[in-house]
Amino acid sequence: MASRAGAGAVVAGAAVVAVLSAALALYGPPLDAVLNQAFPLHTARSVTDMEAALQLVRNVVPPLAAWKHKGQAGRIGVVGGCPEYTGAPYFAAISALKVGADLSHVFTTQDAAPVIKSYSPELIVHPVLDSPSAVQDVEKWLPRLHALVVGPGLGRDDVLLENVKGILEASKTRGIPIVIDADGLWLVAQQPALIQGYQKAVLTPNHVEFSRLAEAVLGDPLDGRDRYRSVQRLSQALGNVTVVQKGEQDVISDGGQALTCSRQGSGRRCGGQGDLLSGSLGVLAHWALLAGPEKTNGSSPLLVAAFGACALTRQCARQAFQKHGRATTATDMIRELGPAFSRLFETSAGADGGVAPTGELSL
Ligand SMILES: *[C@@H]1O[C@H](CO)[C@@H](O)[C@H](O)[C@H]1NC(C)=O
Ligand SMILES: *[C@@H]1O[C@H](CO)[C@@H](O)[C@H](O)[C@H]1NC(C)=O
Repeated sequence: MASRAGAGAVVAGAAVVAVLSAALALYGPPLDAVLNQAFPLHTARSVTDMEAALQLVRNVVPPLAAWKHKGQAGRIGVVGGCPEYTGAPYFAAISALKVGADLSHVFTTQDAAPVIKSYSPELIVHPVLDSPSAVQDVEKWLPRLHALVVGPGLGRDDVLLENVKGILEASKTRGIPIVIDADGLWLVAQQPALIQGYQKAVLTPNHVEFSRLAEAVLGDPLDGRDRYRSVQRLSQALGNVTVVQKGEQDVISDGGQALTCSRQGSGRRCGGQGDLLSGSLGVLAHWALLAGPEKTNGSSPLLVAAFGACALTRQCARQAFQKHGRATTATDMIRELGPAFSRLFETSAGADGGVAPTGELSL
């Protein structure tokens, strides 16, 4: 119950800001200064805030009973992989399965397909991405997919990128939610029009990818000190596409609200964490959109899904690190997906002691 009130407080934040702005117009001090007082950006916030955000994620997770209706948990497609990078698409696709998707497809190149297939009998792997008929081959599957994750291990081969462009266009036409990461973001930085205004897209850039996008879309390197505003500005410039800037804290915005996820993860920066995030986000995005804004109490479903995926990735990192220390790898983190998911979203133990609070900010 306390968490529900917390969720309300988060949403009510915008109203508070409006009131503050009005007051300030009369009394003077710069708005930024007061915003920072009202929502101290870089300090720990109450557990209630974290609980509130996690509760919104719990609201969109289909109850286990509902999973009996086949297909509701979701069929996810990962577009990526090339002969050099076969791990990334595997990590993303297996994460989607372990979060709860019914089926996970990988659309990759001819050469990469048998390698990815050999990692797991659980994935459906299509060797089509470098074929001249790649777009049609993937398009055939689109009616059966609930979300796409584009970019893990994609590389920058011109032919592949051209095919991915066609796949993005076809997916947009069908209104399929699209998570874009890694070299998928490189493609978007070359041609922002590809996802401009497509509000079912979520971009998950790291710092380098974020700067590249900001440069391409806004034409200026953004103020690194105010990450909230930077992420919000990029989102708005792209027509309110959801942006998740990964970092020491993850900052998420849909152009309106901005959230931060600072749940304790681990200091270990092994490769593959981004793939775990994008794969999980594919499933959560589908669930959140299915549940709709009633379940997210008015917040954008994709914002809530992104928060959930960030919290989950951090929880996996933390649990894996507790067991394996510096030897932790992405595979260890993926093994934690089940326990981390239940801990965060299937019990009320999300606010256990020792976890860094997760801040929330409404702008
Ligand atoms: C939803 O938000 C409203 C304020 O916009 C608040 O009054 C209400 O308590 C919130 N409900 C939940 C379940 O968080
Ligand atoms: C983006 O969101 C902001 C804040 O909610 C809103 O003012 C703006 O009109 C939106 N832009 C588009 C293109 O939807």
